[in-house]
Amino acid sequence: MKIIVTKDQKELAVEAWQVMRSVLLQKEDAVLGLATGSTPIGLYDEMVADHLKNGTSYRRVRAVNLDEYVGLSPQNDQSYRYFMKKHLFDRIDIDPESTFIEDGLATDAEAECRRYDAVLSRLPRDIQLLGIGANGHIAFNEPGTPFDLTTHVVDLTQNTIQMNARFFEKESDVPRRAFTMGPKSIMDAKKILLLAVGQNKAQAVAAAVQGPVTPDLPASILQRHPDCILIADEAAASLLKKDL
Ligand code: PGA
Repeated sequence: MKIIVTKDQKELAVEAWQVMRSVLLQKEDAVLGLATGSTPIGLYDEMVADHLKNGTSYRRVRAVNLDEYVGLSPQNDQSYRYFMKKHLFDRIDIDPESTFIEDGLATDAEAECRRYDAVLSRLPRDIQLLGIGANGHIAFNEPGTPFDLTTHVVDLTQNTIQMNARFFEKESDVPRRAFTMGPKSIMDAKKILLLAVGQNKAQAVAAAVQGPVTPDLPASILQRHPDCILIADEAAASLLKKDL
């Protein structure tokens, strides 16, 4: 795994943009695997700033997202579809028809998972962007998730519900279930860009990069990916051992 440590979140966003930019320069119809959460917002701002300044076009780009809450409509301001429109899709020239995410309102969850697997097979990702949870989760793959899962429905852990409660009026409003790409789906991307910001991620980052590869720490599977880049700010990188 290639590791880049930045002094702060702003520098992290700029570095992440350099990686994303190189993918877009190679292929104007690239397939981007995108992520929600607070970590990628700086990167999306860089993408928008570049689009406005340099005219980089996303007209032929396709985007597939990692996960979506079960039960939330695209109009719900806490849905991940809404997040992506607000932070990126509505600010660049991507065709909305070329943006894919699980359907939070799907009535047949199993059928929705298989539909999304088919989308992912049809659109092999040139890059997959990832954040990491303080417990080492990637997307909504919580500790203990088998590595061979593709798109599936998860019951969120209490820890994740509490972490996400800050975005909702009250904790009881946080959906209890979510659709998520599985570890196998994530690993199918040609390149993976893992971003981590803040001291509360330091332990998970160290375990993911230098600990044993185990489903107990879902992000550790990334050690097996042939082209994975971690960009972490100094705080998130603070527990990485330098002499390995
Ligand atoms: P965050 O979430 O970017 O909001 O820290 C990352 C994650 O939990 O995967």
